[in-house]
Amino acid sequence: MSMTVGDLVLAAPAILLALLLALVLSHFLPLLLNPKAPRGSFGWPLVGETLKFLTPHASNTLGSFLEDHCSRYGRVFKSHLFCTPTVVSCDQEVSRFVLQSDARSFVPWYPRSLTELMGKSSILLINGSLQRRVHGLVGAFFKSPQLKAQVTADMQRRLAPALAAWREQGPGARLRIQDHAKTIVFQILVRGLIGLEAGPEMQQLKQQFQEFIVGLMSLPIKLPGTRLYRSLQAKKRMARVIQRIIQDKRRRRRALDEAPPARDAIDVLMGDGSEELTDELISDNMIDLMIPAEDSVPVLITLAVKFLSECPLALQQLEEENMQLKMRKAGLGETLQWTDYMSLSFTQHVITETLRMGNIISGIMRKAVRDVEVKGHLIPKGWCVFMYFRSVHLDDMLYEDPCKFNPWRWKEKDVSASSFTPFGGGQRLCPGLDLARLEASIFLHHLVTSFRWVAEEDHIVNFPTVRLKGGMPIRVTARD
Ligand code: HEM
Repeated sequence: MSMTVGDLVLAAPAILLALLLALVLSHFLPLLLNPKAPRGSFGWPLVGETLKFLTPHASNTLGSFLEDHCSRYGRVFKSHLFCTPTVVSCDQEVSRFVLQSDARSFVPWYPRSLTELMGKSSILLINGSLQRRVHGLVGAFFKSPQLKAQVTADMQRRLAPALAAWREQGPGARLRIQDHAKTIVFQILVRGLIGLEAGPEMQQLKQQFQEFIVGLMSLPIKLPGTRLYRSLQAKKRMARVIQRIIQDKRRRRRALDEAPPARDAIDVLMGDGSEELTDELISDNMIDLMIPAEDSVPVLITLAVKFLSECPLALQQLEEENMQLKMRKAGLGETLQWTDYMSLSFTQHVITETLRMGNIISGIMRKAVRDVEVKGHLIPKGWCVFMYFRSVHLDDMLYEDPCKFNPWRWKEKDVSASSFTPFGGGQRLCPGLDLARLEASIFLHHLVTSFRWVAEEDHIVNFPTVRLKGGMPIRVTARD
Protein backbone atom coordinates (compact mmCIF):
# COMPACT_ATOMS: atom_id res chain seq x y z
CA MET A 1 0.00 0.00 0.00
CA SER A 2 1.55 3.32 -1.05
CA MET A 3 0.99 6.71 0.59
CA THR A 4 -0.23 9.65 -1.47
CA VAL A 5 0.75 13.28 -0.87
CA GLY A 6 -2.72 13.82 0.49
CA ASP A 7 -2.24 11.02 3.06
CA LEU A 8 1.05 12.62 4.12
CA VAL A 9 -0.54 16.01 4.60
CA LEU A 10 -3.27 14.41 6.71
CA ALA A 11 -0.70 12.46 8.76
CA ALA A 12 1.63 15.47 9.27
CA PRO A 13 0.13 16.66 12.59
CA ALA A 14 0.37 13.12 14.02
CA ILE A 15 4.01 12.77 12.84
CA LEU A 16 4.88 16.15 14.33
CA LEU A 17 3.22 15.21 17.61
CA ALA A 18 5.12 11.91 17.72
CA LEU A 19 8.43 13.71 17.05
CA LEU A 20 7.68 16.26 19.75
CA LEU A 21 6.79 13.49 22.20
CA ALA A 22 10.02 11.63 21.39
CA LEU A 23 12.01 14.84 21.94
CA VAL A 24 10.35 15.57 25.26
CA LEU A 25 10.70 11.96 26.40
CA SER A 26 14.39 11.70 25.46
CA HIS A 27 14.95 14.94 27.37
CA PHE A 28 13.16 13.87 30.53
CA LEU A 29 13.93 10.14 30.38
CA PRO A 30 17.24 10.50 32.25
CA LEU A 31 15.25 12.22 34.99
CA LEU A 32 12.73 9.39 35.26
CA LEU A 33 15.42 6.70 35.16
CA ASN A 34 17.54 8.34 37.82
CA PRO A 35 15.33 9.36 40.70
CA LYS A 36 18.42 9.37 42.97
CA ALA A 37 20.03 12.22 41.02
CA PRO A 38 20.11 15.53 42.94
CA ARG A 39 17.09 17.82 42.97
CA GLY A 40 16.81 20.44 40.24
CA SER A 41 15.07 21.22 36.99
CA PHE A 42 15.68 20.30 33.36
CA GLY A 43 14.10 23.31 31.65
CA TRP A 44 13.05 23.13 28.01
CA PRO A 45 13.55 20.12 25.73
CA LEU A 46 16.87 20.28 23.84
CA VAL A 47 18.13 23.67 25.11
CA GLY A 48 17.39 22.75 28.74
CA GLU A 49 18.55 25.59 30.99
CA THR A 50 21.59 26.52 28.87
CA LEU A 51 20.38 29.99 27.97
CA LYS A 52 19.58 30.90 31.57
CA PHE A 53 22.92 29.49 32.63
CA LEU A 54 24.75 31.60 30.05
CA THR A 55 22.93 34.84 30.91
CA PRO A 56 25.70 37.45 31.18
CA HIS A 57 26.78 38.63 34.63
CA ALA A 58 30.02 40.01 36.10
CA SER A 59 32.67 37.35 36.74
CA ASN A 60 32.92 38.42 40.39
CA THR A 61 29.21 37.71 40.96
CA LEU A 62 27.28 34.44 40.86
CA GLY A 63 24.50 35.51 38.51
CA SER A 64 20.77 34.94 38.94
CA PHE A 65 20.72 31.34 37.60
CA LEU A 66 23.11 30.07 40.26
CA GLU A 67 21.64 32.16 43.07
CA ASP A 68 18.14 30.97 42.26
CA HIS A 69 19.04 27.26 41.84
CA CYS A 70 21.31 27.07 44.91
CA SER A 71 18.67 28.64 47.13
CA ARG A 72 15.96 26.30 45.76
CA TYR A 73 17.84 22.99 45.49
CA GLY A 74 21.08 23.35 47.46
CA ARG A 75 24.73 23.53 46.36
CA VAL A 76 24.53 20.41 44.20
CA PHE A 77 21.64 20.28 41.76
CA LYS A 78 20.69 18.80 38.43
CA SER A 79 20.07 20.72 35.27
CA HIS A 80 20.21 20.27 31.49
CA LEU A 81 23.12 22.19 29.95
CA PHE A 82 24.66 22.12 26.46
CA CYS A 83 22.18 19.39 25.41
CA THR A 84 23.17 17.00 28.19
CA PRO A 85 21.79 16.12 31.66
CA THR A 86 24.21 17.69 34.12
CA VAL A 87 24.85 17.77 37.85
CA VAL A 88 26.06 21.26 38.80
CA SER A 89 28.38 21.30 41.80
CA CYS A 90 28.93 24.50 43.77
CA ASP A 91 30.32 22.39 46.61
CA GLN A 92 34.09 22.34 47.11
CA GLU A 93 34.16 18.74 48.40
CA VAL A 94 32.09 17.32 45.54
CA SER A 95 34.19 19.23 42.98
CA ARG A 96 37.42 18.15 44.64
CA PHE A 97 36.29 14.51 44.52
CA VAL A 98 35.54 14.77 40.79
CA LEU A 99 38.84 16.59 40.06
CA GLN A 100 40.78 13.88 41.90
CA SER A 101 39.03 11.04 40.04
CA ASP A 102 40.57 9.45 36.96
CA ALA A 103 39.21 8.22 33.63
CA ARG A 104 37.67 5.14 35.29
CA SER A 105 35.00 7.47 36.72
CA PHE A 106 35.06 10.74 34.76
CA VAL A 107 36.40 11.89 31.39
CA PRO A 108 36.65 15.50 30.13
CA TRP A 109 33.59 16.88 28.40
CA TYR A 110 33.28 20.05 26.33
CA PRO A 111 30.51 21.45 24.11
CA ARG A 112 30.58 20.11 20.50
CA SER A 113 32.08 23.24 18.87
CA LEU A 114 35.00 23.08 21.31
CA THR A 115 35.76 19.39 20.73
CA GLU A 116 35.54 19.89 16.96
CA LEU A 117 38.04 22.72 17.11
CA MET A 118 40.44 21.23 19.64
CA GLY A 119 40.62 17.91 17.82
CA LYS A 120 40.54 14.44 19.39
CA SER A 121 44.25 14.40 20.31
CA SER A 122 44.08 17.60 22.38
CA ILE A 123 45.53 17.20 25.88
CA LEU A 124 42.24 18.59 27.18
CA LEU A 125 40.37 15.60 25.73
CA ILE A 126 42.72 12.61 25.81
CA ASN A 127 42.76 10.20 28.75
CA GLY A 128 44.82 7.51 30.44
CA SER A 129 48.51 6.95 29.79
CA LEU A 130 48.70 9.28 26.75
CA GLN A 131 47.32 12.22 28.76
CA ARG A 132 49.73 11.47 31.62
CA ARG A 133 52.65 11.30 29.20
CA VAL A 134 51.87 14.59 27.40
CA HIS A 135 51.01 16.31 30.71
CA GLY A 136 54.26 15.08 32.29
CA LEU A 137 56.39 16.21 29.34
CA VAL A 138 54.94 19.67 28.84
CA GLY A 139 54.46 20.16 32.60
CA ALA A 140 58.13 19.48 33.36
CA PHE A 141 59.13 21.88 30.58
CA PHE A 142 56.76 24.67 31.70
CA LYS A 143 58.06 24.38 35.26
CA SER A 144 61.73 24.25 34.25
CA PRO A 145 64.04 27.08 35.41
CA GLN A 146 65.37 27.21 31.84
CA LEU A 147 61.98 28.14 30.33
CA LYS A 148 61.24 30.57 33.17
CA ALA A 149 64.58 32.32 32.55
CA GLN A 150 63.85 32.50 28.80
CA VAL A 151 60.34 33.86 29.37
CA THR A 152 61.67 36.46 31.83
CA ALA A 153 64.39 37.69 29.47
CA ASP A 154 61.91 37.73 26.55
CA MET A 155 59.34 39.69 28.52
CA GLN A 156 61.88 42.25 29.65
CA ARG A 157 63.05 42.60 26.03
CA ARG A 158 59.50 43.02 24.68
CA LEU A 159 58.27 45.29 27.48
CA ALA A 160 61.13 47.80 27.18
CA PRO A 161 60.11 49.26 23.75
CA ALA A 162 56.42 49.20 24.74
CA LEU A 163 57.12 51.16 27.94
CA ALA A 164 59.32 53.61 26.01
CA ALA A 165 56.55 54.17 23.45
CA TRP A 166 53.98 54.90 26.18
CA ARG A 167 56.41 57.31 27.85
CA GLU A 168 57.01 59.12 24.56
CA GLN A 169 53.30 59.79 24.18
CA GLY A 170 53.58 62.15 27.18
CA PRO A 171 51.60 62.44 30.43
CA GLY A 172 48.06 61.03 30.27
CA ALA A 173 48.70 58.68 27.32
CA ARG A 174 45.70 56.38 26.89
CA LEU A 175 46.27 52.67 26.45
CA ARG A 176 44.17 49.54 26.59
CA ILE A 177 45.96 47.15 28.87
CA GLN A 178 44.18 44.08 27.50
CA ASP A 179 45.47 44.66 23.94
CA HIS A 180 49.07 45.22 25.05
CA ALA A 181 49.02 42.23 27.40
CA LYS A 182 47.69 40.04 24.57
CA THR A 183 50.34 41.17 22.08
CA ILE A 184 53.25 40.71 24.48
CA VAL A 185 52.19 37.47 26.16
CA PHE A 186 51.21 35.79 22.86
CA GLN A 187 54.64 36.41 21.33
CA ILE A 188 56.45 35.14 24.39
CA LEU A 189 54.44 31.99 25.01
CA VAL A 190 54.35 31.09 21.31
CA ARG A 191 58.12 31.31 21.21
CA GLY A 192 58.21 28.95 24.21
CA LEU A 193 55.79 26.58 22.48
CA ILE A 194 57.01 26.42 18.88
CA GLY A 195 60.22 28.46 18.84
CA LEU A 196 58.86 31.11 16.43
CA GLU A 197 60.38 34.59 16.76
CA ALA A 198 58.33 37.81 16.56
CA GLY A 199 57.88 38.93 12.95
CA PRO A 200 55.44 38.69 10.04
CA GLU A 201 54.89 34.93 10.47
CA MET A 202 54.04 35.42 14.16
CA GLN A 203 51.66 38.23 13.16
CA GLN A 204 49.91 35.95 10.65
CA LEU A 205 49.67 33.18 13.22
CA LYS A 206 48.06 35.57 15.71
CA GLN A 207 45.50 36.65 13.09
CA GLN A 208 44.64 33.02 12.29
CA PHE A 209 44.48 32.25 15.99
CA GLN A 210 41.98 35.05 16.57
CA GLU A 211 39.83 33.61 13.78
CA PHE A 212 40.17 30.17 15.41
CA ILE A 213 39.37 31.18 18.99
CA VAL A 214 36.05 32.94 18.24
CA GLY A 215 34.64 29.61 17.07
CA LEU A 216 35.22 27.86 20.38
CA MET A 217 31.75 28.84 21.57
CA SER A 218 29.73 28.64 18.37
CA LEU A 219 26.89 26.54 16.97
CA PRO A 220 28.19 23.05 16.11
CA ILE A 221 27.44 23.41 12.37
CA LYS A 222 30.36 22.80 10.03
CA LEU A 223 28.88 24.08 6.76
CA PRO A 224 30.90 26.53 4.61
CA GLY A 225 30.32 30.08 5.80
CA THR A 226 29.45 29.13 9.40
CA ARG A 227 31.53 30.42 12.31
CA LEU A 228 32.75 26.91 13.17
CA TYR A 229 33.77 26.24 9.57
CA ARG A 230 35.79 29.46 9.36
CA SER A 231 37.52 28.66 12.65
CA LEU A 232 38.35 25.13 11.45
CA GLN A 233 39.87 26.58 8.27
CA ALA A 234 41.99 28.96 10.38
CA LYS A 235 43.15 25.99 12.47
CA LYS A 236 44.16 24.12 9.30
CA ARG A 237 46.26 27.10 8.18
CA MET A 238 47.95 27.28 11.61
CA ALA A 239 48.56 23.52 11.61
CA ARG A 240 50.35 23.84 8.24
CA VAL A 241 52.76 26.46 9.68
CA ILE A 242 53.44 24.36 12.79
CA GLN A 243 53.89 21.10 10.88
CA ARG A 244 56.43 22.80 8.64
CA ILE A 245 58.32 23.89 11.78
CA ILE A 246 58.17 20.29 13.10
CA GLN A 247 59.47 18.89 9.82
CA ASP A 248 62.36 21.42 9.75
CA LYS A 249 63.24 20.40 13.28
CA ARG A 250 63.13 16.69 12.36
CA ARG A 251 65.44 17.33 9.37
CA ARG A 252 67.93 19.22 11.56
CA ARG A 253 67.85 16.47 14.21
CA ARG A 254 68.62 13.82 11.60
CA ALA A 255 71.67 15.80 10.48
CA LEU A 256 73.10 15.81 14.03
CA ASP A 257 74.78 12.95 15.88
CA GLU A 258 72.93 13.59 19.12
CA ALA A 259 69.63 15.29 19.91
CA PRO A 260 69.99 19.05 20.65
CA PRO A 261 68.69 20.36 24.01
CA ALA A 262 64.96 21.14 24.06
CA ARG A 263 64.28 24.86 23.53
CA ASP A 264 60.51 24.76 23.12
CA ALA A 265 57.53 22.49 23.73
CA ILE A 266 57.75 20.97 20.22
CA ASP A 267 61.35 19.85 20.95
CA VAL A 268 60.15 18.32 24.23
CA LEU A 269 57.34 16.28 22.64
CA MET A 270 59.47 15.26 19.64
CA GLY A 271 62.35 14.29 21.91
CA ASP A 272 60.16 11.70 23.66
CA GLY A 273 60.43 9.55 20.54
CA SER A 274 57.08 7.83 21.17
CA GLU A 275 55.12 6.84 18.06
CA GLU A 276 51.94 7.99 19.77
CA LEU A 277 53.19 11.58 19.69
CA THR A 278 52.54 12.15 15.99
CA ASP A 279 53.15 15.43 14.17
CA GLU A 280 49.38 15.95 14.12
CA LEU A 281 49.08 15.48 17.89
CA ILE A 282 51.98 17.86 18.48
CA SER A 283 50.64 20.59 16.19
CA ASP A 284 47.05 20.26 17.51
CA ASN A 285 48.28 20.64 21.07
CA MET A 286 50.49 23.60 20.25
CA ILE A 287 47.43 25.41 18.87
CA ASP A 288 45.38 24.56 21.98
CA LEU A 289 48.20 25.78 24.19
CA MET A 290 47.99 29.16 22.51
CA ILE A 291 44.62 29.68 24.26
CA PRO A 292 46.24 30.69 27.58
CA ALA A 293 48.73 32.83 25.62
CA GLU A 294 46.07 34.86 23.83
CA ASP A 295 43.40 34.70 26.46
CA SER A 296 43.85 33.46 30.05
CA VAL A 297 47.18 35.10 30.96
CA PRO A 298 46.48 38.52 29.32
CA VAL A 299 43.06 38.54 31.00
CA LEU A 300 44.69 37.77 34.36
CA ILE A 301 46.97 40.80 33.88
CA THR A 302 44.08 43.02 32.79
CA LEU A 303 41.88 41.99 35.71
CA ALA A 304 44.73 42.67 38.15
CA VAL A 305 45.04 46.21 36.75
CA LYS A 306 41.29 46.68 37.12
CA PHE A 307 41.11 45.41 40.70
CA LEU A 308 44.23 47.41 41.70
CA SER A 309 42.79 50.57 40.16
CA GLU A 310 39.76 50.14 42.43
CA CYS A 311 41.83 49.45 45.56
CA PRO A 312 44.40 52.27 46.06
CA LEU A 313 45.79 50.72 49.26
CA ALA A 314 46.68 47.47 47.50
CA LEU A 315 48.16 49.40 44.54
CA GLN A 316 50.31 51.44 46.93
CA GLN A 317 51.64 48.34 48.71
CA LEU A 318 52.32 46.64 45.38
CA GLU A 319 54.23 49.73 44.16
CA GLU A 320 56.30 49.85 47.34
CA GLU A 321 57.21 46.18 47.17
CA ASN A 322 58.19 46.40 43.50
CA MET A 323 60.04 49.71 43.84
CA GLN A 324 62.11 48.27 46.68
CA LEU A 325 63.10 45.32 44.51
CA LYS A 326 63.92 47.58 41.55
CA MET A 327 66.13 49.87 43.71
CA ARG A 328 67.88 46.96 45.39
CA LYS A 329 68.72 45.28 42.08
CA ALA A 330 69.78 48.62 40.52
CA GLY A 331 72.04 49.22 43.55
CA LEU A 332 73.67 45.84 42.97
CA GLY A 333 73.93 46.49 39.23
CA GLU A 334 71.94 43.29 38.52
CA THR A 335 69.03 42.57 36.19
CA LEU A 336 65.94 40.93 37.63
CA GLN A 337 65.71 37.14 37.45
CA TRP A 338 62.51 35.07 37.45
CA THR A 339 63.15 34.12 41.08
CA ASP A 340 63.14 37.85 42.03
CA TYR A 341 59.69 38.41 40.57
CA MET A 342 58.30 35.26 42.19
CA SER A 343 59.74 36.22 45.60
CA LEU A 344 57.44 39.26 45.92
CA SER A 345 54.90 37.98 48.41
CA PHE A 346 52.37 40.82 48.20
CA THR A 347 52.48 40.76 44.39
CA GLN A 348 51.68 37.03 44.54
CA HIS A 349 48.78 37.74 46.91
CA VAL A 350 47.44 40.30 44.40
CA ILE A 351 47.62 37.68 41.62
CA THR A 352 45.99 35.03 43.80
CA GLU A 353 43.16 37.37 44.77
CA THR A 354 42.71 38.35 41.10
CA LEU A 355 42.42 34.67 40.17
CA ARG A 356 39.83 34.15 42.94
CA MET A 357 37.67 37.13 42.04
CA GLY A 358 38.23 37.11 38.28
CA ASN A 359 37.32 33.45 37.72
CA ILE A 360 38.94 33.35 34.29
CA ILE A 361 37.88 29.71 33.95
CA SER A 362 34.54 29.73 35.77
CA GLY A 363 34.31 25.97 35.91
CA ILE A 364 34.95 22.74 34.00
CA MET A 365 32.91 19.77 32.93
CA ARG A 366 33.44 16.03 33.12
CA LYS A 367 31.27 13.12 31.97
CA ALA A 368 30.60 10.17 34.29
CA VAL A 369 31.55 6.83 32.67
CA ARG A 370 29.84 4.92 35.51
CA ASP A 371 27.35 5.75 38.26
CA VAL A 372 29.25 7.72 40.90
CA GLU A 373 27.93 8.63 44.33
CA VAL A 374 29.54 11.51 46.19
CA LYS A 375 28.41 13.11 49.45
CA GLY A 376 25.05 11.36 49.02
CA HIS A 377 24.51 12.70 45.47
CA LEU A 378 24.29 10.34 42.52
CA ILE A 379 26.00 11.38 39.29
CA PRO A 380 24.47 8.87 36.88
CA LYS A 381 26.53 7.20 34.15
CA GLY A 382 26.43 9.27 30.94
CA TRP A 383 25.59 12.51 32.78
CA CYS A 384 27.95 15.45 32.98
CA VAL A 385 29.10 17.21 36.10
CA PHE A 386 29.88 20.91 36.00
CA MET A 387 32.32 21.97 38.73
CA TYR A 388 31.50 25.60 39.23
CA PHE A 389 34.69 27.10 40.68
CA ARG A 390 33.25 30.61 40.69
CA SER A 391 30.58 29.72 43.25
CA VAL A 392 33.22 28.28 45.62
CA HIS A 393 35.52 31.29 45.10
CA LEU A 394 32.66 33.63 45.98
CA ASP A 395 31.22 31.61 48.87
CA ASP A 396 30.83 33.77 51.99
CA MET A 397 31.25 30.69 54.21
CA LEU A 398 34.77 30.25 52.79
CA TYR A 399 35.80 33.85 52.11
CA GLU A 400 34.86 36.77 54.31
CA ASP A 401 33.28 39.54 52.24
CA PRO A 402 33.91 37.49 49.06
CA CYS A 403 33.14 40.25 46.54
CA LYS A 404 35.77 42.54 48.07
CA PHE A 405 39.25 42.59 46.52
CA ASN A 406 41.39 41.82 49.54
CA PRO A 407 44.89 40.48 48.70
CA TRP A 408 45.81 40.58 52.40
CA ARG A 409 43.51 37.61 53.06
CA TRP A 410 46.17 35.38 51.42
CA LYS A 411 48.68 36.11 54.23
CA GLU A 412 46.92 33.38 56.20
CA LYS A 413 45.15 31.36 53.53
CA ASP A 414 46.45 28.31 51.69
CA VAL A 415 46.47 28.49 47.87
CA SER A 416 46.47 24.68 47.63
CA ALA A 417 43.13 24.30 49.48
CA SER A 418 40.16 22.82 47.64
CA SER A 419 38.38 26.15 48.09
CA PHE A 420 40.80 27.72 45.56
CA THR A 421 40.90 26.01 42.16
CA PRO A 422 41.44 28.59 39.39
CA PHE A 423 43.88 26.12 37.79
CA GLY A 424 41.71 23.01 38.32
CA GLY A 425 43.20 20.12 40.27
CA GLY A 426 44.12 16.44 40.39
CA GLN A 427 45.83 14.82 37.40
CA ARG A 428 44.81 17.66 35.12
CA LEU A 429 45.99 20.51 37.34
CA CYS A 430 47.13 23.27 34.98
CA PRO A 431 50.83 22.69 34.25
CA GLY A 432 51.20 26.36 33.19
CA LEU A 433 50.25 27.89 36.54
CA ASP A 434 53.77 29.03 37.48
CA LEU A 435 54.27 30.55 34.03
CA ALA A 436 50.96 32.42 34.29
CA ARG A 437 51.94 33.85 37.68
CA LEU A 438 55.43 34.73 36.46
CA GLU A 439 54.23 36.59 33.37
CA ALA A 440 51.63 38.51 35.38
CA SER A 441 54.29 39.43 38.00
CA ILE A 442 56.72 40.72 35.36
CA PHE A 443 54.08 42.78 33.58
CA LEU A 444 52.82 44.32 36.84
CA HIS A 445 56.36 45.02 38.07
CA HIS A 446 57.28 47.06 34.99
CA LEU A 447 53.94 48.83 34.85
CA VAL A 448 53.87 49.97 38.49
CA THR A 449 57.55 50.88 38.69
CA SER A 450 57.47 52.92 35.46
CA PHE A 451 54.06 54.62 35.57
CA ARG A 452 51.24 55.93 37.66
CA TRP A 453 47.82 55.61 36.07
CA VAL A 454 44.23 56.67 36.22
CA ALA A 455 41.78 54.02 35.07
CA GLU A 456 38.67 54.69 33.01
CA GLU A 457 35.52 52.83 33.95
CA ASP A 458 35.23 49.38 32.41
CA HIS A 459 33.15 46.25 33.00
CA ILE A 460 33.97 42.59 33.24
CA VAL A 461 31.98 40.37 30.88
CA ASN A 462 32.05 36.61 31.11
CA PHE A 463 30.57 35.20 27.94
CA PRO A 464 31.87 33.55 25.83
CA THR A 465 35.05 34.17 27.85
CA VAL A 466 35.96 36.46 30.73
CA ARG A 467 37.37 39.79 29.55
CA LEU A 468 37.11 43.55 30.02
CA LYS A 469 34.45 45.02 27.76
CA GLY A 470 36.48 48.09 26.83
CA GLY A 471 39.92 46.40 27.10
CA MET A 472 40.65 48.30 30.36
CA PRO A 473 41.70 51.76 29.20
CA ILE A 474 44.10 53.60 31.52
CA ARG A 475 45.88 56.98 31.27
CA VAL A 476 49.52 56.60 32.19
CA THR A 477 52.08 59.15 33.36
CA ALA A 478 55.73 58.18 33.67
CA ARG A 479 57.26 58.24 37.15
CA ASP A 480 60.21 60.57 37.62
C1 HEM B 1 45.60 32.52 34.14
C2 HEM B 1 46.04 31.56 33.38
C3 HEM B 1 45.53 30.15 33.35
C4 HEM B 1 44.39 29.61 33.89
C5 HEM B 1 43.31 30.31 34.71
C6 HEM B 1 44.39 28.19 33.56
C7 HEM B 1 43.43 27.28 33.97
C8 HEM B 1 43.46 25.94 33.70
C9 HEM B 1 42.49 24.98 34.20
C10 HEM B 1 41.30 25.29 35.08
C11 HEM B 1 42.85 23.75 33.73
C12 HEM B 1 42.18 22.40 34.05
C13 HEM B 1 41.36 21.86 32.90
C14 HEM B 1 40.73 20.52 33.27
O1 HEM B 1 40.85 20.04 34.37
O2 HEM B 1 40.07 19.95 32.39
C15 HEM B 1 44.03 23.94 32.91
C16 HEM B 1 44.66 22.93 32.21
C17 HEM B 1 45.75 23.13 31.42
N1 HEM B 1 46.48 24.30 31.27
FE1 HEM B 1 46.06 26.07 32.11
N2 HEM B 1 45.52 27.91 32.82
C18 HEM B 1 46.25 29.07 32.68
C19 HEM B 1 47.46 29.22 32.04
C20 HEM B 1 48.11 28.22 31.36
C21 HEM B 1 49.38 28.37 30.69
C22 HEM B 1 50.22 29.65 30.65
C23 HEM B 1 49.67 27.17 30.11
C24 HEM B 1 50.86 26.79 29.29
C25 HEM B 1 51.35 27.48 28.31
C26 HEM B 1 48.59 26.26 30.43
C27 HEM B 1 48.51 24.94 30.03
C28 HEM B 1 47.53 24.05 30.42
C29 HEM B 1 47.47 22.66 29.98
C30 HEM B 1 48.45 21.95 29.05
C31 HEM B 1 46.35 22.09 30.59
C32 HEM B 1 45.82 20.65 30.41
C33 HEM B 1 46.30 19.74 31.50
C34 HEM B 1 45.76 18.31 31.34
O3 HEM B 1 44.58 18.13 30.99
O4 HEM B 1 46.53 17.39 31.56
N3 HEM B 1 47.67 26.94 31.18
N4 HEM B 1 44.38 25.27 32.92
